[in-house]
Amino acid sequence: MEIKAVVSDIVNIKAGAIIVNHFEGRKHPEGDTAAVDKALDGAISQLIKQGDIKGKLNEITLLHSLGKLPASRIVVSGLGKKNELTVNRVRSATAETCRWLRQKGVTSVASVAQGAGINHINLEEATKAVTEGALLGLYTFRRYITKKEDNAGEIKELMIVGSEKEKPRIERATTRGRILSEAASWARDLVNEPSNYMTPERMAEAARQLAKDYGLSVEVLEREQMAEAGMGALLGVSQGSQQPPKFIILSYKGSDSNEVDIALAGKGITFDSGGISIKPSQGMADMKGDMAGGAAVLAALIALAQLKPKINVTALVPATENLPSGTALKPGDILTAMNGKTIEVLNTDAEGRLILADALCYAKKLGAKSIIDVATLTGACRAALGTVCTGAFSNNQELANRIIAAGNETGELIWLLPMYDEYKEQLKSDIADIKNIGGRYGGAITAAKFLAEFINDTPWVHLDIAGTSETDKEKGYLVKGATGVPVRTLVNLVLSMAK
Ligand code: BES
Ligand code: ZN
Ligand code: ZN
Repeated sequence: MEIKAVVSDIVNIKAGAIIVNHFEGRKHPEGDTAAVDKALDGAISQLIKQGDIKGKLNEITLLHSLGKLPASRIVVSGLGKKNELTVNRVRSATAETCRWLRQKGVTSVASVAQGAGINHINLEEATKAVTEGALLGLYTFRRYITKKEDNAGEIKELMIVGSEKEKPRIERATTRGRILSEAASWARDLVNEPSNYMTPERMAEAARQLAKDYGLSVEVLEREQMAEAGMGALLGVSQGSQQPPKFIILSYKGSDSNEVDIALAGKGITFDSGGISIKPSQGMADMKGDMAGGAAVLAALIALAQLKPKINVTALVPATENLPSGTALKPGDILTAMNGKTIEVLNTDAEGRLILADALCYAKKLGAKSIIDVATLTGACRAALGTVCTGAFSNNQELANRIIAAGNETGELIWLLPMYDEYKEQLKSDIADIKNIGGRYGGAITAAKFLAEFINDTPWVHLDIAGTSETDKEKGYLVKGATGVPVRTLVNLVLSMAK
């Protein structure tokens, strides 16, 4: 879809549909909506009066212009109560409206910068939200559907209208919105791919392609190099699979120094069967998405390479399958991580923390000043927080606050969970330094405490996206399948740290 800034009045633009808005509780159309109402001889006012247009959030009302305007259709999009408007509501309402128009077969859409000037939302934020809502909400993954659906329309252009003076700001904002949405969509693609296509090898290939396309540097460690580096935990998880593991290192260099300012480590389990501690078959197919953290950290670099903040960021993805076989890791086995710590593996399904242990050690060895890890780590996190927000764990309140604030702006909500030292007792092993499961209760926290053992005092945040990486219903700018969480938040965080 092409998105462009167009200097025009919304009433004069030619398009399949124009989108204006209405707020709940308002008696009359306002601003651009009032101008359109006038051109329609008061049709919108009439519908508000009749109660057909209420302005409730995500309400969609279609009017036909019947020649009174150059555009054929007018959509009045409900934005809820004016004083409750947020950029996230703009994102969601735009997404719902665009999907609805696509289904009607509309191919060209024009919109005002929904919400600009309301509740401290400026023109650029509003434009960016409209852009993101349209691109993320219209996302599809149809690569494996051979029959081209008869009615699968496509919105080919989205015009955001404004004055001559506003045009440069609208252009800048659509570019930023596009960069962020395309990065998130790239991550969605990787997560939606089945595991027979998205193997560790293919993930490494995807990272190499990014390096080529965006001028990033890439290195992929093979099994022998992992062994040399002492990555016994990652190698242990990979030993049951026929697919060779890959340790992907993708770097963005935006500052003159050679230091790594931020390391982003992402769990890259391309399929999690549970291993010898095998999962029940119900829901196992979802575990093709157990590399969502890895996809997110790679995708974040796509956006950074284009936005060019003055900061150095390295993404690390330990990528492997977790499968049972005659050579697989077994319950009771002891592994040695890169920092020399020994781990008693009591459940081979708690594999994410094992591969991340080595990735975190690697980040420390790079001398990263801050470390963020992203992982579909525990069912316990999903049980605790549901699918609304990502669980965060941190040894540094300031960094945690920053990432929570970054998430509030993108709409990718994050909630901080505790890290009291008392939880560590649950990880005591009788015969190794630590064990990989912490018993029945507080599973998301004990998993985070396990990771903390490989961090010490580097400022660090662990994001558990087990509940938020995928969704089973279409809602706002999310569609069924992968969400692309937390790509936009990671980018936002890095931009804030570069300042
Ligand atoms: N990949 C899973 C966690 C998961 C569950 C992600 C549901 C997304 C949706 C992880 O590797 C796992 O299996 N964790 C176990 C840990 C347990 C054995 C301590 C879990 O959560 O049950
Ligand atoms: Zn598992
Ligand atoms: Zn897993």
